[in-house]
Amino acid sequence: MAKAAADRIVARIVANGQRVAICLSGGSSPKQLFELLATDAYRAKIPWDRVHWFIGDERFVPVDNPLNNMSMARKAFLDQCAPSANVHPIPIDSADPGEAARRYEAELKAFYGLDKLTPERPLFDVVLLGIGPDGHTASLFPGYPAVEETKRWVIEVPKANVEPFVPRISLTLPTLASCREMLFEASGAGKRAILTRVFDDEDLPANRAHSEGETIWLLDKAALPENFRA
Ligand code: 6PG
Repeated sequence: MAKAAADRIVARIVANGQRVAICLSGGSSPKQLFELLATDAYRAKIPWDRVHWFIGDERFVPVDNPLNNMSMARKAFLDQCAPSANVHPIPIDSADPGEAARRYEAELKAFYGLDKLTPERPLFDVVLLGIGPDGHTASLFPGYPAVEETKRWVIEVPKANVEPFVPRISLTLPTLASCREMLFEASGAGKRAILTRVFDDEDLPANRAHSEGETIWLLDKAALPENFRA
């Protein structure tokens, strides 16, 4: 699954001869993918100087905290491979998650060059996502107002619905949708129950998340639910 994800990301990067923007996911699922991107096999294929790396959600914890999503990505590949100016973390050195969300929205708008997303020009080439046991994706939890947000690009989520129970900052569904490709990774038997609900088309944040381009689910065999129909 990590290799399939790495190949898709490299294909999207190579397909875009201009400035590229990749939105990374948090959690544990992408770690193997990140480490793969730092290997010689992949490192040589990526034009690091024109690729920018963002994060779809963050836990409001210091950068030296192992729960910090962008720090995990930095350790796994970004610090070795990417120019530091091309790495765009959510600013958790803010007074509170609300301020961090507003600052990151301003940074995304400055990068995009407009205050309004347009379908013709996606913000991201690839948005990488995972799925939690309750069907959340990024830090958009089922039944939370953040899932319904359509104006703001980034939003604070004061209280998480699952571990780790720390305040979060998350890109909203319209911002995540502004991509050429949305790539979900889910591995292990532990994901089977929630994926069964996803493929039953239950109204879950992970089911609401979709790209204006392609939306792809990468699963390993252990995660494949009974009701999965290719
Ligand atoms: C986070 C993530 C979250 C994650 C899922 C799956 O900050 O927690 O962004 O959305 O993708 O919870 O987590 P695992 O990959 O660890 O199963």
